[in-house]
Amino acid sequence: MRVVLGVGAGIAAYKVCELLRLLTESGHQVRVIPTPESLHFVGAATWEALSGQPVSTSPWEQVPQVPHVRLGQEADLVLVAPATADLLARAATGLAPDLLSNVLLTARCPVMFVPAMHTEMWQHPATVANVATLRSRGAIVLEPASGRLTGADSGPGRLPEPAQIFLTAKRVLKRGSAALTPDLAGRRVAVSAGGTREEIDPVRFIGNWSSGLQGYALAMTAAARGAEVTLVAANTGLADPAGVTVVQVRSACELREAMLAAASGADAIVMAAAVADYRPSVRSDTKLKKNASSPVPIELTENPDILRELSTDRRRAGQVVVGFAAETGDLIANGRAKLAAKGCDLLVINQVGDGLAFGTADNAAEILATDGQHTSVPRGPKEQLADEIWDLVAGRLGLSWPPLNFGEVQFRGRVPTWPVACSLLSQSLKAIPTRSPTRSVTPSSTR
Ligand code: CTP
Repeated sequence: MRVVLGVGAGIAAYKVCELLRLLTESGHQVRVIPTPESLHFVGAATWEALSGQPVSTSPWEQVPQVPHVRLGQEADLVLVAPATADLLARAATGLAPDLLSNVLLTARCPVMFVPAMHTEMWQHPATVANVATLRSRGAIVLEPASGRLTGADSGPGRLPEPAQIFLTAKRVLKRGSAALTPDLAGRRVAVSAGGTREEIDPVRFIGNWSSGLQGYALAMTAAARGAEVTLVAANTGLADPAGVTVVQVRSACELREAMLAAASGADAIVMAAAVADYRPSVRSDTKLKKNASSPVPIELTENPDILRELSTDRRRAGQVVVGFAAETGDLIANGRAKLAAKGCDLLVINQVGDGLAFGTADNAAEILATDGQHTSVPRGPKEQLADEIWDLVAGRLGLSWPPLNFGEVQFRGRVPTWPVACSLLSQSLKAIPTRSPTRSVTPSSTR
Protein backbone atom coordinates (compact mmCIF):
# COMPACT_ATOMS: atom_id res chain seq x y z
CA MET A 1 0.00 0.00 0.00
CA ARG A 2 1.07 3.61 -0.43
CA VAL A 3 2.18 5.38 2.72
CA VAL A 4 3.20 9.01 3.00
CA LEU A 5 5.59 9.35 5.91
CA GLY A 6 5.67 12.98 7.04
CA VAL A 7 8.63 13.91 9.21
CA GLY A 8 8.50 16.93 11.51
CA ALA A 9 11.40 18.91 12.91
CA GLY A 10 12.01 17.02 16.12
CA ILE A 11 15.11 15.16 17.19
CA ALA A 12 13.03 11.97 17.31
CA ALA A 13 13.21 12.06 13.49
CA TYR A 14 16.17 9.69 13.70
CA LYS A 15 13.93 7.01 15.24
CA VAL A 16 11.65 7.31 12.22
CA CYS A 17 14.41 5.79 10.04
CA GLU A 18 13.63 2.48 11.81
CA LEU A 19 9.89 3.02 11.29
CA LEU A 20 10.53 3.60 7.58
CA ARG A 21 12.51 0.37 7.37
CA LEU A 22 9.72 -1.59 9.06
CA LEU A 23 7.19 -0.17 6.62
CA THR A 24 9.25 -0.85 3.49
CA GLU A 25 10.30 -4.32 4.64
CA SER A 26 6.66 -5.28 5.06
CA GLY A 27 6.06 -4.39 1.41
CA HIS A 28 4.64 -0.87 1.58
CA GLN A 29 5.62 1.83 -0.87
CA VAL A 30 6.67 4.75 1.30
CA ARG A 31 7.10 8.34 0.16
CA VAL A 32 8.90 10.37 2.80
CA ILE A 33 7.98 14.06 3.00
CA PRO A 34 10.10 15.86 5.56
CA THR A 35 9.45 19.45 6.55
CA PRO A 36 12.35 21.70 5.47
CA GLU A 37 13.33 22.28 9.12
CA SER A 38 13.41 18.53 9.87
CA LEU A 39 16.38 18.16 7.52
CA HIS A 40 18.49 19.66 10.33
CA PHE A 41 17.99 16.33 12.12
CA VAL A 42 17.93 13.74 9.30
CA GLY A 43 18.99 14.65 5.78
CA ALA A 44 17.17 14.00 2.50
CA ALA A 45 19.81 11.48 1.37
CA THR A 46 18.96 9.19 4.30
CA TRP A 47 15.25 9.24 3.48
CA GLU A 48 15.89 8.68 -0.22
CA ALA A 49 18.23 5.77 0.39
CA LEU A 50 15.96 4.07 2.91
CA SER A 51 12.73 4.59 0.96
CA GLY A 52 14.09 4.19 -2.58
CA GLN A 53 11.93 7.20 -3.51
CA PRO A 54 12.80 10.83 -4.28
CA VAL A 55 12.38 13.29 -1.44
CA SER A 56 11.25 16.88 -1.66
CA THR A 57 9.99 19.37 0.88
CA SER A 58 8.38 21.98 -1.35
CA PRO A 59 5.33 21.99 -3.63
CA TRP A 60 7.42 24.08 -6.08
CA GLU A 61 9.52 21.07 -7.12
CA GLN A 62 8.37 18.66 -9.89
CA VAL A 63 5.50 21.08 -10.50
CA PRO A 64 4.12 19.38 -13.66
CA GLN A 65 3.29 16.35 -11.52
CA VAL A 66 1.40 18.54 -9.00
CA PRO A 67 2.88 16.50 -6.13
CA HIS A 68 0.95 18.16 -3.30
CA VAL A 69 -2.34 16.98 -4.79
CA ARG A 70 -1.25 13.65 -6.28
CA LEU A 71 0.60 12.36 -3.19
CA GLY A 72 -2.29 13.18 -0.90
CA GLN A 73 -4.93 11.71 -3.19
CA GLU A 74 -3.01 8.49 -3.86
CA ALA A 75 -1.98 7.69 -0.28
CA ASP A 76 -3.58 4.86 1.71
CA LEU A 77 -2.17 6.32 4.93
CA VAL A 78 -0.47 9.56 5.88
CA LEU A 79 1.67 8.96 8.95
CA VAL A 80 3.35 11.96 10.59
CA ALA A 81 6.19 11.21 13.00
CA PRO A 82 7.44 13.05 14.89
CA ALA A 83 4.46 15.40 14.88
CA THR A 84 5.78 18.57 16.50
CA ALA A 85 3.61 21.18 18.22
CA ASP A 86 4.14 23.43 15.21
CA LEU A 87 3.08 20.75 12.72
CA LEU A 88 -0.04 19.91 14.74
CA ALA A 89 -0.90 23.63 14.82
CA ARG A 90 -0.47 23.93 11.05
CA ALA A 91 -2.58 20.83 10.44
CA ALA A 92 -5.31 22.03 12.81
CA THR A 93 -5.53 25.46 11.20
CA GLY A 94 -5.03 24.32 7.60
CA LEU A 95 -1.88 26.37 6.96
CA ALA A 96 0.20 24.94 4.14
CA PRO A 97 3.63 26.53 3.79
CA ASP A 98 5.42 23.33 2.65
CA LEU A 99 4.76 20.09 0.78
CA LEU A 100 3.83 18.02 3.85
CA SER A 101 1.19 20.43 5.11
CA ASN A 102 -0.23 20.67 1.56
CA VAL A 103 -0.49 16.88 1.45
CA LEU A 104 -2.30 16.91 4.79
CA LEU A 105 -4.97 19.06 3.13
CA THR A 106 -5.35 16.88 0.03
CA ALA A 107 -5.26 13.45 1.74
CA ARG A 108 -8.57 11.60 1.95
CA CYS A 109 -7.13 8.48 3.60
CA PRO A 110 -6.60 7.98 7.36
CA VAL A 111 -4.11 10.47 8.80
CA MET A 112 -2.15 9.47 11.88
CA PHE A 113 -0.04 11.87 13.95
CA VAL A 114 2.58 10.58 16.37
CA PRO A 115 3.48 13.55 18.56
CA ALA A 116 6.90 14.06 20.14
CA MET A 117 7.83 17.24 21.98
CA HIS A 118 8.61 18.53 25.43
CA THR A 119 5.97 17.98 28.10
CA GLU A 120 5.34 21.71 28.43
CA MET A 121 4.61 21.99 24.72
CA TRP A 122 2.38 18.87 24.72
CA GLN A 123 0.39 20.18 27.68
CA HIS A 124 0.14 23.79 26.44
CA PRO A 125 -3.51 24.79 25.91
CA ALA A 126 -2.76 25.63 22.27
CA THR A 127 -1.48 22.10 21.57
CA VAL A 128 -4.31 20.52 23.58
CA ALA A 129 -6.84 22.47 21.51
CA ASN A 130 -5.11 21.59 18.22
CA VAL A 131 -5.07 17.89 19.10
CA ALA A 132 -8.77 18.05 20.02
CA THR A 133 -9.54 19.76 16.71
CA LEU A 134 -7.64 17.16 14.71
CA ARG A 135 -9.30 14.26 16.56
CA SER A 136 -12.72 15.83 16.10
CA ARG A 137 -12.07 15.75 12.35
CA GLY A 138 -11.23 12.06 12.41
CA ALA A 139 -7.45 12.25 12.48
CA ILE A 140 -5.66 9.76 14.70
CA VAL A 141 -3.43 11.48 17.23
CA LEU A 142 -1.57 8.98 19.39
CA GLU A 143 -0.62 9.87 22.94
CA PRO A 144 3.14 10.32 23.26
CA ALA A 145 5.08 7.93 25.49
CA SER A 146 6.36 9.09 28.86
CA GLY A 147 10.02 9.06 29.78
CA ARG A 148 13.33 10.81 29.38
CA LEU A 149 13.20 13.82 27.07
CA THR A 150 15.92 16.05 25.67
CA GLY A 151 18.28 16.91 28.50
CA ALA A 152 17.60 15.72 32.01
CA ASP A 153 13.83 16.22 32.08
CA SER A 154 11.27 13.48 31.65
CA GLY A 155 7.51 13.25 31.21
CA PRO A 156 4.96 12.71 28.44
CA GLY A 157 6.39 13.71 25.07
CA ARG A 158 8.62 10.87 23.88
CA LEU A 159 8.02 9.32 20.52
CA PRO A 160 6.68 5.76 21.04
CA GLU A 161 9.01 3.01 19.87
CA PRO A 162 9.07 2.53 16.07
CA ALA A 163 7.79 -1.07 16.37
CA GLN A 164 4.79 0.19 18.32
CA ILE A 165 4.00 2.92 15.79
CA PHE A 166 4.41 0.38 12.99
CA LEU A 167 1.90 -1.99 14.57
CA THR A 168 -0.69 0.74 14.95
CA ALA A 169 -0.08 1.91 11.38
CA LYS A 170 -0.50 -1.66 10.14
CA ARG A 171 -3.81 -1.97 11.90
CA VAL A 172 -5.00 1.28 10.39
CA LEU A 173 -3.82 0.20 6.92
CA LYS A 174 -5.68 -3.07 7.32
CA ARG A 175 -8.96 -1.72 8.60
CA GLY A 176 -8.86 2.03 8.42
CA SER A 177 -9.11 4.37 11.37
CA ALA A 178 -11.93 2.24 12.78
CA ALA A 179 -9.24 -0.30 13.73
CA LEU A 180 -8.50 1.78 16.80
CA THR A 181 -12.03 1.76 18.17
CA PRO A 182 -12.23 -0.43 21.27
CA ASP A 183 -14.10 -3.38 19.72
CA LEU A 184 -13.67 -5.58 22.81
CA ALA A 185 -15.16 -2.96 25.15
CA GLY A 186 -17.49 -4.55 27.67
CA ARG A 187 -15.90 -7.99 27.20
CA ARG A 188 -13.92 -9.86 29.83
CA VAL A 189 -10.96 -11.97 28.86
CA ALA A 190 -8.62 -14.20 30.84
CA VAL A 191 -5.11 -14.84 29.56
CA SER A 192 -2.40 -17.07 31.02
CA ALA A 193 1.26 -16.34 30.34
CA GLY A 194 4.72 -17.59 31.22
CA GLY A 195 5.89 -21.00 32.29
CA THR A 196 4.99 -22.92 35.42
CA ARG A 197 7.62 -24.09 37.90
CA GLU A 198 7.15 -27.34 39.79
CA GLU A 199 9.28 -27.33 42.89
CA ILE A 200 11.59 -30.22 43.68
CA ASP A 201 13.04 -28.67 46.82
CA PRO A 202 13.63 -25.10 48.12
CA VAL A 203 16.21 -24.38 45.37
CA ARG A 204 15.23 -26.46 42.33
CA PHE A 205 12.26 -26.80 40.06
CA ILE A 206 11.04 -28.37 36.82
CA GLY A 207 10.37 -25.56 34.39
CA ASN A 208 10.42 -24.46 30.76
CA TRP A 209 11.72 -21.64 28.55
CA SER A 210 8.52 -19.64 28.21
CA SER A 211 9.21 -15.90 28.68
CA GLY A 212 5.56 -14.84 28.88
CA LEU A 213 6.02 -12.21 26.13
CA GLN A 214 3.27 -13.65 23.91
CA GLY A 215 0.76 -13.82 26.77
CA TYR A 216 1.60 -10.25 27.81
CA ALA A 217 1.19 -9.08 24.20
CA LEU A 218 -2.24 -10.75 24.22
CA ALA A 219 -3.19 -9.03 27.46
CA MET A 220 -1.96 -5.62 26.29
CA THR A 221 -3.61 -5.75 22.89
CA ALA A 222 -6.90 -6.92 24.44
CA ALA A 223 -6.76 -4.00 26.90
CA ALA A 224 -5.99 -1.63 24.02
CA ARG A 225 -9.11 -2.96 22.28
CA GLY A 226 -11.18 -2.16 25.35
CA ALA A 227 -11.44 -5.57 27.08
CA GLU A 228 -11.36 -6.05 30.84
CA VAL A 229 -8.33 -8.30 31.13
CA THR A 230 -7.13 -10.70 33.82
CA LEU A 231 -3.61 -11.92 33.20
CA VAL A 232 -2.48 -14.99 35.12
CA ALA A 233 1.31 -14.73 34.99
CA ALA A 234 3.62 -17.60 35.83
CA ASN A 235 7.22 -16.65 36.60
CA THR A 236 7.65 -14.02 33.89
CA GLY A 237 9.47 -11.21 35.69
CA LEU A 238 7.77 -8.77 33.29
CA ALA A 239 6.25 -5.45 34.37
CA ASP A 240 2.48 -5.46 34.87
CA PRO A 241 0.80 -4.08 31.73
CA ALA A 242 -1.21 -0.91 32.23
CA GLY A 243 -4.94 -1.42 32.73
CA VAL A 244 -4.66 -5.19 33.26
CA THR A 245 -5.40 -7.17 36.45
CA VAL A 246 -2.40 -9.40 37.04
CA VAL A 247 -2.46 -12.54 39.20
CA GLN A 248 0.99 -13.98 39.88
CA VAL A 249 1.29 -17.76 40.18
CA ARG A 250 4.12 -20.25 40.29
CA SER A 251 2.99 -23.83 39.72
CA ALA A 252 0.47 -25.52 37.41
CA CYS A 253 -1.92 -26.10 40.31
CA GLU A 254 -1.81 -22.40 41.27
CA LEU A 255 -2.32 -21.44 37.63
CA ARG A 256 -5.32 -23.74 37.43
CA GLU A 257 -6.95 -22.12 40.50
CA ALA A 258 -6.36 -18.61 39.15
CA MET A 259 -7.57 -19.43 35.63
CA LEU A 260 -10.71 -21.19 36.85
CA ALA A 261 -11.56 -18.10 38.92
CA ALA A 262 -10.83 -15.66 36.06
CA ALA A 263 -12.55 -17.83 33.45
CA SER A 264 -15.83 -18.12 35.36
CA GLY A 265 -16.81 -14.59 34.27
CA ALA A 266 -14.87 -14.37 31.02
CA ASP A 267 -16.13 -14.15 27.45
CA ALA A 268 -12.83 -15.47 26.12
CA ILE A 269 -9.92 -17.44 27.54
CA VAL A 270 -6.45 -17.75 26.07
CA MET A 271 -4.09 -20.32 27.54
CA ALA A 272 -0.74 -18.99 26.34
CA ALA A 273 1.14 -20.31 29.38
CA ALA A 274 3.45 -23.28 29.06
CA VAL A 275 2.16 -25.61 31.73
CA ALA A 276 4.29 -28.44 33.09
CA ASP A 277 2.61 -31.76 32.43
CA TYR A 278 4.11 -33.29 35.58
CA ARG A 279 5.20 -32.19 39.03
CA PRO A 280 7.36 -33.97 41.60
CA SER A 281 5.09 -36.20 43.68
CA VAL A 282 6.83 -34.95 46.80
CA ARG A 283 8.43 -31.56 47.35
CA SER A 284 11.32 -31.85 49.76
CA ASP A 285 11.30 -29.22 52.52
CA THR A 286 15.07 -29.36 52.67
CA LYS A 287 17.60 -29.15 49.88
CA LEU A 288 18.28 -32.54 48.33
CA LYS A 289 21.93 -33.44 48.87
CA LYS A 290 24.21 -35.01 46.35
CA ASN A 291 24.63 -38.61 47.21
CA ALA A 292 27.78 -40.63 46.81
CA SER A 293 25.73 -43.41 45.23
CA SER A 294 23.60 -43.06 42.07
CA PRO A 295 21.01 -40.19 42.04
CA VAL A 296 17.57 -40.90 43.41
CA PRO A 297 14.94 -40.71 40.60
CA ILE A 298 12.29 -38.01 41.04
CA GLU A 299 8.85 -39.53 41.06
CA LEU A 300 6.33 -37.46 39.07
CA THR A 301 2.59 -36.92 39.30
CA GLU A 302 0.55 -35.71 36.32
CA ASN A 303 -0.78 -32.14 36.48
CA PRO A 304 -4.38 -31.37 35.56
CA ASP A 305 -4.89 -30.40 31.92
CA ILE A 306 -6.23 -26.89 32.50
CA LEU A 307 -7.04 -26.07 28.88
CA ARG A 308 -9.02 -29.26 28.49
CA GLU A 309 -10.91 -28.60 31.70
CA LEU A 310 -11.70 -25.00 30.65
CA SER A 311 -12.77 -26.14 27.17
CA THR A 312 -15.09 -28.90 28.36
CA ASP A 313 -16.36 -29.24 31.95
CA ARG A 314 -15.97 -25.58 32.94
CA ARG A 315 -16.95 -23.86 29.72
CA ARG A 316 -19.66 -21.17 29.92
CA ALA A 317 -22.16 -20.85 27.10
CA GLY A 318 -20.78 -18.65 24.33
CA GLN A 319 -17.29 -18.58 25.77
CA VAL A 320 -14.42 -18.72 23.25
CA VAL A 321 -11.42 -20.79 24.34
CA VAL A 322 -7.99 -20.54 22.71
CA GLY A 323 -5.05 -22.88 23.32
CA PHE A 324 -1.42 -22.72 22.30
CA ALA A 325 0.87 -25.49 21.15
CA ALA A 326 4.62 -25.37 20.83
CA GLU A 327 5.59 -28.07 18.36
CA THR A 328 8.77 -29.31 16.73
CA GLY A 329 7.46 -31.91 14.27
CA ASP A 330 4.63 -31.74 11.74
CA LEU A 331 2.91 -28.58 12.96
CA ILE A 332 -0.43 -29.05 11.29
CA ALA A 333 -0.85 -32.78 11.99
CA ASN A 334 0.19 -32.35 15.63
CA GLY A 335 -1.96 -29.24 15.88
CA ARG A 336 -5.11 -30.91 14.54
CA ALA A 337 -4.68 -33.79 16.97
CA LYS A 338 -4.16 -31.37 19.87
CA LEU A 339 -7.13 -29.21 18.88
CA ALA A 340 -9.37 -32.27 18.96
CA ALA A 341 -7.88 -33.57 22.21
CA LYS A 342 -8.17 -30.25 24.07
CA GLY A 343 -11.67 -29.28 22.86
CA CYS A 344 -10.84 -25.58 22.45
CA ASP A 345 -12.14 -23.37 19.60
CA LEU A 346 -8.79 -22.17 18.31
CA LEU A 347 -5.29 -23.57 18.59
CA VAL A 348 -2.28 -21.33 17.96
CA ILE A 349 0.63 -23.49 16.86
CA ASN A 350 4.16 -22.19 17.23
CA GLN A 351 7.13 -23.83 15.64
CA VAL A 352 9.83 -23.98 18.28
CA GLY A 353 13.43 -23.28 17.30
CA ASP A 354 15.06 -21.05 14.64
CA GLY A 355 14.96 -18.09 17.01
CA LEU A 356 11.17 -18.23 17.24
CA ALA A 357 8.67 -18.55 20.07
CA PHE A 358 10.71 -18.57 23.31
CA GLY A 359 12.11 -15.30 24.63
CA THR A 360 12.04 -13.41 21.31
CA ALA A 361 10.02 -10.33 20.38
CA ASP A 362 8.88 -12.04 17.17
CA ASN A 363 6.63 -14.99 16.53
CA ALA A 364 4.95 -16.81 13.64
CA ALA A 365 2.04 -19.22 13.94
CA GLU A 366 -0.55 -21.40 12.29
CA ILE A 367 -3.98 -20.97 13.84
CA LEU A 368 -6.41 -23.86 13.47
CA ALA A 369 -10.09 -23.59 14.32
CA THR A 370 -12.64 -26.30 15.03
CA ASP A 371 -14.77 -24.95 12.16
CA GLY A 372 -11.91 -25.75 9.73
CA GLN A 373 -10.58 -22.20 9.39
CA HIS A 374 -6.80 -22.10 9.03
CA THR A 375 -4.92 -18.80 9.44
CA SER A 376 -1.19 -18.44 8.82
CA VAL A 377 0.43 -15.53 10.62
CA PRO A 378 3.87 -14.68 9.20
CA ARG A 379 6.81 -13.82 11.39
CA GLY A 380 6.33 -10.45 13.08
CA PRO A 381 6.07 -8.78 16.49
CA LYS A 382 4.18 -10.83 19.10
CA GLU A 383 1.63 -8.03 19.30
CA GLN A 384 0.80 -8.68 15.65
CA LEU A 385 0.02 -12.33 16.35
CA ALA A 386 -1.96 -11.24 19.43
CA ASP A 387 -4.03 -8.91 17.30
CA GLU A 388 -4.76 -11.70 14.79
CA ILE A 389 -5.90 -13.96 17.63
CA TRP A 390 -8.24 -11.29 19.01
CA ASP A 391 -9.64 -10.75 15.51
CA LEU A 392 -10.55 -14.45 15.35
CA VAL A 393 -11.94 -14.35 18.89
CA ALA A 394 -13.96 -11.20 18.14
CA GLY A 395 -15.43 -12.92 15.08
CA ARG A 396 -16.52 -15.86 17.22
CA LEU A 397 -18.00 -13.53 19.84
CA GLY A 398 -20.12 -12.04 17.08
CA LEU A 399 -18.25 -8.74 17.05
CA SER A 400 -17.49 -7.10 13.74
CA TRP A 401 -15.54 -4.05 12.68
CA PRO A 402 -17.38 -0.81 12.01
CA PRO A 403 -17.48 0.11 8.32
CA LEU A 404 -14.43 1.86 6.90
CA ASN A 405 -15.35 5.50 6.58
CA PHE A 406 -12.77 8.16 6.01
CA GLY A 407 -13.14 11.88 6.14
CA GLU A 408 -14.45 14.55 8.36
CA VAL A 409 -18.16 14.07 7.99
CA GLN A 410 -18.33 10.31 8.50
CA PHE A 411 -16.17 10.42 11.62
CA ARG A 412 -18.12 13.02 13.48
CA GLY A 413 -20.43 10.42 14.96
CA ARG A 414 -17.54 8.55 16.54
CA VAL A 415 -15.77 11.49 18.06
CA PRO A 416 -16.25 10.51 21.72
CA THR A 417 -14.48 7.18 21.24
CA TRP A 418 -11.24 8.66 19.95
CA PRO A 419 -9.64 10.02 23.10
CA VAL A 420 -10.60 6.79 24.91
CA ALA A 421 -9.24 4.54 22.18
CA CYS A 422 -6.05 6.53 21.70
CA SER A 423 -5.34 6.76 25.39
CA LEU A 424 -6.01 3.04 25.99
CA LEU A 425 -3.84 2.16 23.04
CA SER A 426 -1.02 4.39 24.09
CA GLN A 427 -1.18 3.19 27.71
CA SER A 428 -0.81 -0.36 26.50
CA LEU A 429 1.85 0.48 23.97
CA LYS A 430 3.94 2.03 26.71
CA ALA A 431 4.01 -1.27 28.52
CA ILE A 432 5.07 -3.34 25.51
CA PRO A 433 8.63 -4.52 26.02
CA THR A 434 10.94 -3.22 23.34
CA ARG A 435 13.03 -5.48 21.13
CA SER A 436 16.17 -4.91 23.10
CA PRO A 437 15.78 -5.49 26.83
CA THR A 438 19.01 -3.56 27.39
CA ARG A 439 17.85 -0.47 25.49
CA SER A 440 19.94 2.47 26.61
CA VAL A 441 18.60 5.97 26.84
CA THR A 442 20.90 8.86 26.09
CA PRO A 443 20.06 12.16 27.72
CA SER A 444 20.11 14.31 24.61
CA SER A 445 16.87 13.69 22.83
CA THR A 446 13.10 13.69 22.87
CA ARG A 447 12.57 10.05 21.88
N1 CTP B 1 -1.98 -26.97 28.92
C1 CTP B 1 -2.78 -26.96 30.04
N2 CTP B 1 -2.54 -27.81 31.07
C2 CTP B 1 -1.52 -28.68 30.99
C3 CTP B 1 -0.71 -28.73 29.85
C4 CTP B 1 -0.97 -27.85 28.82
O1 CTP B 1 -3.70 -26.16 30.11
N3 CTP B 1 -1.31 -29.49 32.01
C5 CTP B 1 -2.32 -26.08 27.82
C6 CTP B 1 -1.26 -25.05 27.44
O2 CTP B 1 -1.46 -23.84 28.15
C7 CTP B 1 -1.47 -24.87 25.96
C8 CTP B 1 -2.00 -26.23 25.51
O3 CTP B 1 -2.49 -26.87 26.69
O4 CTP B 1 -2.48 -23.91 25.71
C9 CTP B 1 -1.03 -27.11 24.85
O5 CTP B 1 0.13 -27.25 25.64
P1 CTP B 1 1.28 -28.26 25.20
O6 CTP B 1 2.31 -28.27 26.27
O7 CTP B 1 1.69 -27.94 23.80
O8 CTP B 1 0.46 -29.59 25.11
P2 CTP B 1 0.39 -30.82 26.04
O9 CTP B 1 -1.03 -31.07 26.35
O10 CTP B 1 1.31 -30.70 27.19
O11 CTP B 1 0.87 -31.95 25.03
P3 CTP B 1 2.36 -32.43 24.63
O12 CTP B 1 3.28 -31.90 25.69
O13 CTP B 1 2.24 -33.91 24.64
O14 CTP B 1 2.60 -31.86 23.27
